[in-house]
Amino acid sequence: MKSLLSVLSGNASEPPPIWLMRQAGRYLPEYRATREKAGGFLDLCFNPELATEVTLQPIRRFGFDASILFSDILVIPHGLGQKVWFAVGEGPRLEPISTIDELGDTGSEIALERLSPVIETVSRLHQSLPAETTLIGFCGAPWTVASYMVAGRGTPDLAPIRTFAAEAPVKLQGIIDRLVEVSIDYLLAQVRAGAEVLQIFESWAQVLRGDDFKRWSFDPVSRIVDGVKARSPETPIIVFPRKAALEGYSAVAQLEGVAGVSIDSDFDLNIAAEKLQPFAAVQGNLDPQDLVAGPESIDPKVDAMKAALSAGPWVANLGHGIVPETPIAHVEHFIRRIREG
Ligand code: CP3
Repeated sequence: MKSLLSVLSGNASEPPPIWLMRQAGRYLPEYRATREKAGGFLDLCFNPELATEVTLQPIRRFGFDASILFSDILVIPHGLGQKVWFAVGEGPRLEPISTIDELGDTGSEIALERLSPVIETVSRLHQSLPAETTLIGFCGAPWTVASYMVAGRGTPDLAPIRTFAAEAPVKLQGIIDRLVEVSIDYLLAQVRAGAEVLQIFESWAQVLRGDDFKRWSFDPVSRIVDGVKARSPETPIIVFPRKAALEGYSAVAQLEGVAGVSIDSDFDLNIAAEKLQPFAAVQGNLDPQDLVAGPESIDPKVDAMKAALSAGPWVANLGHGIVPETPIAHVEHFIRRIREG
């Protein structure tokens, strides 16, 4: 069995499988060259030939154990008819909405039609990846995606979506419900095209605590997991509730149907081993800045991860996406340390 699939079914593996969040991206010169050819970032996401190429680039260069589809979590708002664009050097921009009705009654069928080039990319990857490489599909969790839909941009303090949740919870629920429904169908379409593992990115969980975490993150994510599992029971699902409270991480790890939980770089490794690993494989969690800094920062962290996590199911990864400043030699070093000790 491929090592990522084995670990996600609960087995320890030495060495562990390794892949990196955002492994296709601007730290690679070959990515920058292809992105130039594509025009805008969304044009790249919707061009099956070029999206396949950039997905394969880090596999060719580094031989990662898993390949994550090249796309973005914001293709779903685009599929729902919201205007989305990426301003160079500024990140994502959307025409903000405050109720789902502003997008008309666009449901899964229309959205999936608009997202068909992404599904085509998954099919091409399924054909062209090396036999030992596992293909990961993904979507954003509804709260995280809604935070962009409502604010119209990335907001590190999440002020707009928090205000919106407090003042207009029924409207937010309407947006979340639509996202749940479309995300299930979108993930299942990825599975039918060849995705073997799915990851749900809840990148902006840090402001949700207690009942708010349950309502806006845990419940929608559980509904997506249930919806996917109902029709594709064999597909392992990884959830990344970045910077959630420990209780949030624990609840996610214990959720029926969740095979892996991805931990951020602040998460204590011994707590991960004790509280999460009995229920789900743990994925992570080198700090992307340690990867920028180099071997002196990487080596002790790799040793600590191995000491805490290697007796159970563990997928070596970062605690968040790789940053553009990362030297390629440091990525090679990290992989070598993980694989060779
Ligand atoms: O991991 C991979 O290699 C697969 C591709 C992938 C991208 N985005 C490519 C991308 C994945 C899985 C994502 C997920 C994503 N997108 C998340 C969740 C994970 C996380 O990082 O928290 C979020 C919040 C987004 C939204 C998004 N897309 C932002 C905030 C940005 C701008 C940030 C930046 O680095 O510029 C993007 C753009 C983006 N998505 C890039 C890439 C490679 C950079 C675009 C470029 O080439 O200019």
